[in-house]
Amino acid sequence: MSARDLAQRLFSLQDRVAVITGGAGLLGVKHAQVIASAGGIPVLVDIDRARAEAQAAEIAETYGVPAWGTETDITKEAQVAALLGQVLERHGRVDILINNAARDPKVGGASTVALSRVENFPMEQWDADLEVGLKGAFICSQVVGGEMARRSRGVIVNIGSEYGVNGPDQRLYRQAGVAEEAQPVKPITYTVVKSGLVGMNRYFALYWGSRGVRVNAVSLGGVRQDQSDEFVRRYIEQVPLGRMAEANDYQGTILYLCSDASAFLTGTNLVIDGGKSCW
Ligand SMILES: NC(=O)c1ccc[n+]([C@@H]2O[C@H](COP(=O)([O-])OP(=O)(O)OC[C@H]3O[C@@H](n4cnc5c(N)ncnc54)[C@H](O)[C@@H]3O)[C@@H](O)[C@H]2O)c1
Repeated sequence: MSARDLAQRLFSLQDRVAVITGGAGLLGVKHAQVIASAGGIPVLVDIDRARAEAQAAEIAETYGVPAWGTETDITKEAQVAALLGQVLERHGRVDILINNAARDPKVGGASTVALSRVENFPMEQWDADLEVGLKGAFICSQVVGGEMARRSRGVIVNIGSEYGVNGPDQRLYRQAGVAEEAQPVKPITYTVVKSGLVGMNRYFALYWGSRGVRVNAVSLGGVRQDQSDEFVRRYIEQVPLGRMAEANDYQGTILYLCSDASAFLTGTNLVIDGGKSCW
């Protein structure tokens, strides 16, 4: 390999197998695309089988890698163990785990407004949100990361949020003419899950550092989707780069974290938010 191939070698994921939870979602598909574009084999894991399979088929076609999608509920240990069995049977290896699945109820829908405030917060939602975001990430790390530790090589990326670093500024969600006690808020569980994930990130980085498994988190800023103009205006006032993220803004970081380009990086939490948290 010539000296000019250095960058290519650092960022190559040739034949590396990547399990991506929540792989059928908005960002899961983006993670899968960049992994495939670097020669890796993404496995899109989701409770939405049809979408996981369809997105994987499209990626396989576009990038010429044997990407595949499968239905797995990451809160169920037996299903995650079966998933690992399938991955090893097909590929004989697993190199990357992206703990990306989470429940992120959108703020402001009529049903969420009444329930999302602390005073009314339903315990069923507390359990369901922590079950996917924390317990699911733990089970996947335990099962898939455990296999990596046995083989002394692997990478785990935990997908966090700016709201796990700083709490949500609830003023962003305020609606005119709505009584104080009925104002919509970002639910507490989102911050609890994402802060907890950063703690889990540190724990596993320490636990498996000597086994060659690197564990890093990314805490992401909000992605522009169908938010109201008013919300976007308020949000971007706080962002030095003056905009919300596009869904593909995080692909470079994912490639960096999954590849040998970040070979000496573990236990860190990269905050990628257009500078929103720097003041
Ligand atoms: N979109 C944003 O603005 C944003 C910002 C910061 C952080 N994040 C984080 O990025 C990650 C991806 O977000 P997104 O916007 O793509 O969300 P999304 O809702 O589009 O995707 C999440 C996926 O997880 C899947 N999922 C839910 N429960 C599951 C389970 N038990 N087992 C397996 N899969 C399950 C869902 O079916 C869905 O496809 C999340 O962790 C989210 O918190 C998103």
